[in-house]
Amino acid sequence: MLLELSSIRKRFGGVHALRDGSLDVKPGQVHALLGENGAGKSTLMKIAAGMERRDGGDMRWKGRHVNFAVPADAHAVGIRMVHQESLLAPHLTVAENVFLGREPGRGGLMDRSGMERATAALLESQRFPLEAHWKVQALSPAQRQLVEICRALQGEASLLIFDEPTSSLSEAESREVFRIVGELSAKGIGIIYITHRLAELRKIAHHVTILRDGSTVHSGAMDDISTNGIVRHMVGRKLTAIYQRGKADPGETRLRVSLPGVEFAVRAGEVVGMAGLVGSGRTEVCETVFGITPGPPGSVEVNGLARNIQSPYDAVAAGIALVTEDRQYTGLATRLSLRANMTMANLERVSRSGVVMTRKERSVTEGFRARLKIRSDGVEQSARQLSGGNQQKVVIAKWLFRDTDIVLFDEPTKGIDVGAKSEVFALMDDMARQGKALVMVSSELPELLQIADRILVMRHGRIVAELPRETTQEEIMHHATVGADAPVPGGS
Ligand SMILES: Nc1ncnc2c1ncn2[C@@H]1O[C@H](COP(=O)(O)OP(=O)(O)OP(=O)(O)O)[C@@H](O)[C@H]1O
Ligand SMILES: [Mg+2]
Repeated sequence: MLLELSSIRKRFGGVHALRDGSLDVKPGQVHALLGENGAGKSTLMKIAAGMERRDGGDMRWKGRHVNFAVPADAHAVGIRMVHQESLLAPHLTVAENVFLGREPGRGGLMDRSGMERATAALLESQRFPLEAHWKVQALSPAQRQLVEICRALQGEASLLIFDEPTSSLSEAESREVFRIVGELSAKGIGIIYITHRLAELRKIAHHVTILRDGSTVHSGAMDDISTNGIVRHMVGRKLTAIYQRGKADPGETRLRVSLPGVEFAVRAGEVVGMAGLVGSGRTEVCETVFGITPGPPGSVEVNGLARNIQSPYDAVAAGIALVTEDRQYTGLATRLSLRANMTMANLERVSRSGVVMTRKERSVTEGFRARLKIRSDGVEQSARQLSGGNQQKVVIAKWLFRDTDIVLFDEPTKGIDVGAKSEVFALMDDMARQGKALVMVSSELPELLQIADRILVMRHGRIVAELPRETTQEEIMHHATVGADAPVPGGS
């Protein structure tokens, strides 16, 4: 055995993150770690990586009892973790981030050119389309993820922990991550792999461990369990059918976007999907409509009127909301409570004569917490302390509460577990029925096919196809990739 975790316990204040977390991983094994949002997956892995101390339970590394006091202890024995939340320093370059905290010295000075050369070699060997001297702040979430992977691969590793490495990646990019995982496991490196994309598991994992409410409830070979069986262990009951949206009955045009190569309209009651590879321009379209990177005058029309949207403030005033994929940087005030985060975009709705009515605010936010099954210690807990998927639910609640006519969702279900996804779709369906116009960007094609009335496919910053709900994943991928020289790792 490489790593043996037995009955690990961990509490944060009133929250039992782990009660009885166990997991054993062997060299060369690809071990999937699954569970609902807040089940304790990240916490268990942070304990293995020396980032959190356990309250109880036993940990062995290659048969010996170990206690890691700091991440450097785990790093020294060869344990590496690719984190769910980016821990990169945005103002530094790719190379500086890869070597952050362990810069190679030459006469006591940091050897910048050596660092850049080593990073360039690593990028090349993994066929990542990045340059060592690029600044991380200019990178997309998907590109940052690749930098995190590079950072983990630097030096000698025996165990690699991936915490949702593909949640911001497209299908093609995810395949590259699977390739890396396959190559590393063939070299005898142990892999622990956390994901909410159950469909991708069978392609890579040998073994699966499932956590529920902080306890290991199942551990066994991947071949011995069905996907339904996995879901049952995760949620503790049989999950009713995946959410299926009925046919829309669209009303008048709410949003019209006219940008070079990107012309589309969304009517009241419609959910328009946007597919395409990462880097195809979907996020840029959302950011233009929302005023983060303003377009030329006349590019956005709301309810038949041209609106000059120069900032997110203008967008919100025009009745547009953006649920962003990048919750860490733009979606969430991590120091504030759940309650404050959910109501901040529409305080008027819980105020009278400019005074916030706390009781009303609390009941509204408690309602969202229950409906979205947000796992937290009440609504006063700070958002920073929530698990990744639960943070995403808070961002969604915030914009639902804002109650705008037009809502853009950029990868809204990123990192959200199967049960909560159905709940998010049901909420989107409700919004459409109320006459709102929705746009949803997603790299998960099955989700688009489930919720969108029609799907726009983007490639190289242009809309290249509009497909009906009845289309197939193959058809979408065909349009997204034909003749593509898009920045896809490996260029597949
Ligand atoms: N630093 C912290 N302070 C307080 N509570 C915390 C802290 N870190 C985690 N928790 C809580 O511990 C529980 C488990 O969180 P963890 O991040 O391990 O979940 P997870 O299984 O990784 O979920 P997800 O799929 O959403 O990423 C959650 O209820 C979370 O709010
Ligand atoms: Mg997590």
